Amino acid sequence: MEEKRSVEQIIQARVLVVDDDPILRTQIKRLASQFVSEIRLAADGVEGLEIWRQWQPNVVVTDIFMPRMSGLEMSAAIKAGDPDAQIIVITSDDDGDSLRRALEIGVERYISKPVDMHLLADAISKCVRDQQQTEDLRLTRQVAALTEALQQQLWEKLRAEEALNQEKAEQRVLINRLEEAHNQLLQSEKMASIGQLAAGVAHEINNPISYVNSNLGALQQYVGKLLQLIAGYEQHDAELPGASRDTLDALKREIDLDYLRNDVGDLLAESLGGLQRVKRIVQDLKDFSHVSDSEMQWANLENGLESTLNVVGNELKYKAEVVRDYGHLPEIECIPSQLNQVFMNLLVNASQAIAEHGVITLRTRQEGDQACLEISDTGSGIPPEIINRIFDPFFTTKPVGTGTGLGLSITHGIIRKHGGRIEVSSEIGKGSTFRIVLPIRQNEPELPA
Ligand SMILES: Nc1ncnc2c1ncn2[C@@H]1O[C@H](COP(=O)(O)OP(=O)(O)OP(=O)(O)O)[C@@H](O)[C@H]1O
Ligand SMILES: [Mg+2]
Repeated sequence: MEEKRSVEQIIQARVLVVDDDPILRTQIKRLASQFVSEIRLAADGVEGLEIWRQWQPNVVVTDIFMPRMSGLEMSAAIKAGDPDAQIIVITSDDDGDSLRRALEIGVERYISKPVDMHLLADAISKCVRDQQQTEDLRLTRQVAALTEALQQQLWEKLRAEEALNQEKAEQRVLINRLEEAHNQLLQSEKMASIGQLAAGVAHEINNPISYVNSNLGALQQYVGKLLQLIAGYEQHDAELPGASRDTLDALKREIDLDYLRNDVGDLLAESLGGLQRVKRIVQDLKDFSHVSDSEMQWANLENGLESTLNVVGNELKYKAEVVRDYGHLPEIECIPSQLNQVFMNLLVNASQAIAEHGVITLRTRQEGDQACLEISDTGSGIPPEIINRIFDPFFTTKPVGTGTGLGLSITHGIIRKHGGRIEVSSEIGKGSTFRIVLPIRQNEPELPA
């Protein structure tokens, strides 16, 4: 097709024609003007190079032999500036050397003298097309490079975002741990002050109880002896003169000696019994608080439950009947004061879940090398939609001022610290069971608090 190109077809391109022969130059210009949009002329290589630099033509058509600077020298300079520059040399048929040199420089197109305008038009249009293709390729490469850079940026952004998310997650874990530690601290401070108070009260009460106890014991003996003495006198009643006997009889009736004799023993026994109970409560308070205990030791959980029951007894007394189903657990390795705190939290929750009156069942069993302990109540039960949240710190459904929502989260922390687990099952309207499973022996290293 291209061989039949009509010279009337205008190629949109800037063409520089370099020839020292002014006649040929103008002839080419005149003819080429018919098919090229812009043409400029130069008389030799020096001028050609100058115009090329300023004007940046699409195609350079150059003669080879010229004064000052040859067409090949100029072509070499142009190619050095732009390896993609499109150059057509005009040669004589017999000038093989020049053609070889042109090829070496990178000039691949030539036309022979005399110049055929169809061939020149063809060569120029091929140059323009080549240049267009090179430009297209360059643009495509540029777009590809830009796309890659963008993708890289996007990828880096994603990576940064991922790193940020990971950091956020780590921060969240850290905040949770901090919160947990804070709660534990709060609770242990609370427990320490309760413990100190209990220990202080126990200490203060212990002394008076001891001497009241021993005095009452002595009093019981003395009263016994005095009653013995009265009985002795009564045996000699008949020997007294009538008037004295009448006076004594009147006195006996007045003080109701028979009743007094029966009752004084009961009173003293009751008082001693009451005192024993006070002593036990004081002992339980001391056992419960264990202020100084923070070390693992061997302890009996059923005893722990009992002393906790005595401490929270008041809260439970009117609410629930306590049923014990103990399986006689062996001693387990634990921190008893902390487990007592767990029992207290669970017992108080159980009693608070019971509206009027109900039953709290304490069940203990050994299962292999584990101790299982269940505290069940016949209270309100826990709605399924919140059962997953009850161990969260500060989760409470109780009115402001009643619950802080810390009980179960602390309980959970303590059980975890003991290498155990706590589970809950509940049915609305029927009640709840909290089940604790603890290892009897602590072989695992303690988890961080
Ligand atoms: N035995 C139970 N029966 C029914 N609901 C319970 C029982 N134990 C716990 N819950 C529910 O779990 C919530 C959280 O209990 P948790 O002991 O952690 O906090 P609290 O009792 O509300 O407050 P705190 O123990 O700090 O005084 C309670 O508010 C209650 O809704
Ligand atoms: Mg509670």
